[in-house]
Amino acid sequence: MKRIGLTIAGLAGMLGACGQGGGSASGEEMVVGFSQIGSESGWRTAETNAARKAAEERQVDLRISDAQQRQENQIKAIRAFIAQGVHGILLAPVVATGWEQVLKEAKAANIPVILVDRQIETADPSLYLSAVTSDQVLEGRTAGEWLTKTAADRDCPVVELQGTVGSSPAIARKKGFDEAIAKSSNIKIVRSQSGDFTRARAKEVMESAIKSLGGTRICAVYAHNDDMMIGAIQAMKEAGLKPGKDVLTVSIDGVPDIFKAMADGEANATVELTPEMVGPALDMLVTYKKDGKAPPKWHQTPTKLYLPDTAAAEYERRKNLY
Ligand code: AHR
Repeated sequence: MKRIGLTIAGLAGMLGACGQGGGSASGEEMVVGFSQIGSESGWRTAETNAARKAAEERQVDLRISDAQQRQENQIKAIRAFIAQGVHGILLAPVVATGWEQVLKEAKAANIPVILVDRQIETADPSLYLSAVTSDQVLEGRTAGEWLTKTAADRDCPVVELQGTVGSSPAIARKKGFDEAIAKSSNIKIVRSQSGDFTRARAKEVMESAIKSLGGTRICAVYAHNDDMMIGAIQAMKEAGLKPGKDVLTVSIDGVPDIFKAMADGEANATVELTPEMVGPALDMLVTYKKDGKAPPKWHQTPTKLYLPDTAAAEYERRKNLY
């Protein structure tokens, strides 16, 4: 494990923080545990790479534990971080519920926890210090509004590819999309199934949807992430359909592959989710450790819709970014 000797006091000074010491850490190097979900998507890999870079820039010893998409692995990792006496814990929670017990243990050990990219459901918000996430309902709504405008002139049966069952983005992105299409009687979700945020699973779901619905009856595909849309695009092409032309597509993340698909005319829209989540979370932790003042409960990252007109340029700009 790389150990870098910058002190929390020094790091907070670099960030312009001031005030009294907020934890046990003043004068020690900053050690942070990050319980990451896994590597289910291109976005997830980008987030992990961005996290490493953010830690390096801030000279923080970031210990990343890959949970391979299992909550029990995340709970074990958090307990291990507590045992190591880290200064803070970052948690990207694979699902929204079931965190109370382990977060109580972190709180009892006086270790602040910051949620990154996904929210949790809890009756006790004091169990975490802050959350760095997008507005995931807004992401779904943005996708739905784009579709209601684009398909205003036709009957539009939609296949929805949901994210991991029980995860906050799957719940919220469905809610936002449903709200956006509610008043458009021409747009109806005819199949909604989880693709677990992966290309392979989504491809299987799309193949089965094409078989049972008939490809020509599908007007649009809404996927809760771009990787699932890439899997669905593959399934559509193999079935002789023309995604981006015969079938409208809208998904979420803004990974390079979806920009490539849009530039090639095989996808129509994506809603960007920044992978830069850990940098702001580390800044919060450092400042909190220095001055003891709790940061805002939610650091909201931006949400932006991208269309094919800028796709080629965006692909070039992003392809080697993370
Ligand atoms: O929590 C963020 C989501 O998780 C991303 O949209 C998806 O690609 C990832 O797996």
